[in-house]
Amino acid sequence: MIKTNERTFLLSTKETALLLRVNEADKLVCDHYGRLIDEGDLKSCAVPTGMPTGRTIIYDEKKSAKLALPLMQSEFSTPFKSDDLSPMIELYAEKGRVFDFIYDSYEIRDFVPMEGYPNPHGADQELVIKCKDEKMGAELHLHYVVFEDSDVIGKFIRIVNVGEEDIELRRAYSSQFSLQNEGYIIHGSFGNWAGEFQRNETKIGHFRYEFGSDSGSSGDQHNPFFMLKRPDTSLHTGIAYGFNLIYSGSHRVCVEMEPYGMIRVQQGISPSGFEKVLHKGESFLTPMAVLTFTHHGLNGVSHHMHDFVNKHIIPEQFAYKPRPIAFNNWEGTYAKFTEGKLKSLAKKAADLGCELFVLDDGWFGHRDDDASSLGDWTVYKKKLPHGIEGIADYVHKLGLKFGLWFEPEMISPDSELMKAHPEWAVTDGIHEPSLGRNQLLIDLTKAEVRDYLFECLDTHLKTGVIDFIKWDYNRTFSDLPRNGAFCHDYILGLYDLVGRITKAYPNVLFENCASGGGRNDLGMFCYFPQGWVSDDTDALERCKIQTEMAFGYPPSVMSNHVSAKTNHQMLRKTGFGTKFDIACMGILGYEMDVNDLDSVDEKAIKEQIEFYKENRNTLQFGTYMLLDTFDHDRQIVEMADGECALVTYVNYVQTPHSGNERLPVTGLIPDATYEYSVRKEVHSLKTFGSLVNQQTPFHVKEEGAIVNFLSRRMSLDAEALHGEAKGATLNAGGLQIGRQWTGTGYDDTTRILLDFGARIYIFKVKK
Ligand code: DGJ
Repeated sequence: MIKTNERTFLLSTKETALLLRVNEADKLVCDHYGRLIDEGDLKSCAVPTGMPTGRTIIYDEKKSAKLALPLMQSEFSTPFKSDDLSPMIELYAEKGRVFDFIYDSYEIRDFVPMEGYPNPHGADQELVIKCKDEKMGAELHLHYVVFEDSDVIGKFIRIVNVGEEDIELRRAYSSQFSLQNEGYIIHGSFGNWAGEFQRNETKIGHFRYEFGSDSGSSGDQHNPFFMLKRPDTSLHTGIAYGFNLIYSGSHRVCVEMEPYGMIRVQQGISPSGFEKVLHKGESFLTPMAVLTFTHHGLNGVSHHMHDFVNKHIIPEQFAYKPRPIAFNNWEGTYAKFTEGKLKSLAKKAADLGCELFVLDDGWFGHRDDDASSLGDWTVYKKKLPHGIEGIADYVHKLGLKFGLWFEPEMISPDSELMKAHPEWAVTDGIHEPSLGRNQLLIDLTKAEVRDYLFECLDTHLKTGVIDFIKWDYNRTFSDLPRNGAFCHDYILGLYDLVGRITKAYPNVLFENCASGGGRNDLGMFCYFPQGWVSDDTDALERCKIQTEMAFGYPPSVMSNHVSAKTNHQMLRKTGFGTKFDIACMGILGYEMDVNDLDSVDEKAIKEQIEFYKENRNTLQFGTYMLLDTFDHDRQIVEMADGECALVTYVNYVQTPHSGNERLPVTGLIPDATYEYSVRKEVHSLKTFGSLVNQQTPFHVKEEGAIVNFLSRRMSLDAEALHGEAKGATLNAGGLQIGRQWTGTGYDDTTRILLDFGARIYIFKVKK
């Protein structure tokens, strides 16, 4: 809800309020962004002006003898008029470079979709505040979009050239927000291929901090999502702000603390390599920044962000719709497959209970490895003699949906497309362009390139046999052409292409991918409802990545696959039980040679899939709560949905004599009686090494033929746990889950988790 008395604007959501004010100098400032406030008390929130000290420059003596630009909690800033903190907007005209916008008018209206950008849906209201610099012929429109139910405010700006002269735009962030320092810590992420979303924290000092991506995509180095938290903020309590950007290109965050302790936070398109000329009458619109506030700790931020993504970002036709369990052939075969091999994998995937078969890279041109054919989106007949339709029909007859991998934004130097259109590859026209994964970027700023790619995709999709597309993107930008804002124009081209194709095929489910999680952002999720989280499918690494990502993104967008026991990225060995327990917190899939499974593993995987189907709603759309972290040698996550709560416990390294442990649970219905249990797991005979000799009548060798033979056919049941208790009791005292194995003594309550092992505890209301 937006309320105004002409010079103050109070934007309220369910639990938060943003208070804006036009001050005596006609500048727009933020007096409060935090918990709800009473509209009768706005004066007490007004940030006082104070006496300017020393050699402070007074902005406009006639309006106020006190006000200085860098001391205001301004909603925007420009350089060269005494505000020497990081500028939000940088403009240059032939006649000058001081742009001094002052308040002009406002409008409250229904949200008007932003042209060229992905748009969130279901917004409540929009406030547009117009500021002008008449002398320079420029207007600045500040937009505030309220998403009441999710406690989110969207912010973006438009800069309009209303004068005669050209204006050059060199920086245009989407949001500037100021707050007073209370010991804030930036909590964001850093990352790389196979190591996305690593936790990254720093206490804010009197510096300017800048992070983001200049790689052309939102990237895995620094996802646009980050938080500011106070030192006393915990998982469940305390103040925290969450920030994100609905944008998929190079982006930047700037956090700066000025000498008096005011913190300025800016988010938007990266200014590096960004220049736009606005001719008379033209305007530039920034993407939308997303802000939230909570006093319920870091889980509070994630609840707001999850709600926002599920309700307002994901295309409406996929919102809260169950996602299928995939089988993907990539780590099972890589590009080395035949039609026969794919069929045998599909058959086994169907037997196991999977619902979607995804044919990954290697099906087109003459692609046998990653050095060829991108751009030639015609079937590789040697591998697939019956074409895509042949394999898709086979898959459909098994009762599975069929998915296909594409990497439309790339071109291989050896491709037929390159021969026909060398000018479509991105180069500066001077240097030999650098290759990344043996490929070049294709220029999506060109309409004819987008038309070609639309046609390639359309040719396959119109056969009607494709239910799912995995859209990959495996290199970053280099050799950029000179023109002003190439990276940004590329992203607008990408939005045009993905917008057209998803509109033409609204029921095809798209999965976003960029060498794993190199472009998982709110922009892409507006078109593609889910994203491949990382090429690292190791259980422990994936657990860390998923947990950090979950502060900003819900499990319903996270595609996670169970892969081979010896992980290909880390060479770490982990049992399928643990791999499942981690992969199931989101959208489950399998990615390995399932024909190599022994009967023990096959049975276990069938049980996992049954379990997932029974609990899919909770695991994809339930309320997510991080209850403990590896800071305490265990990570505990609860996913709860009405009468069911699933709590995943992940051990860090095993230590001797771990002691009794209490599993925290939260949010259960106090009066209801819950039945609790642990998801059934088994131990391989090999787990016990030469200790098996204590149970066998004859001597067996560790890793010897007998153990190998037996372990493919039989296993030992892991610990069991059953009982019931009132929700109130469990909320208060948690659940006692006993000790872990240390050396001797083993009964049906001893937890044998080993390093990085996991369990899922189940709480269901008794019928
Ligand atoms: C990178 C993706 O992240 C993988 O899952 C796989 O699709 C490969 N590309 C295929 O080249």
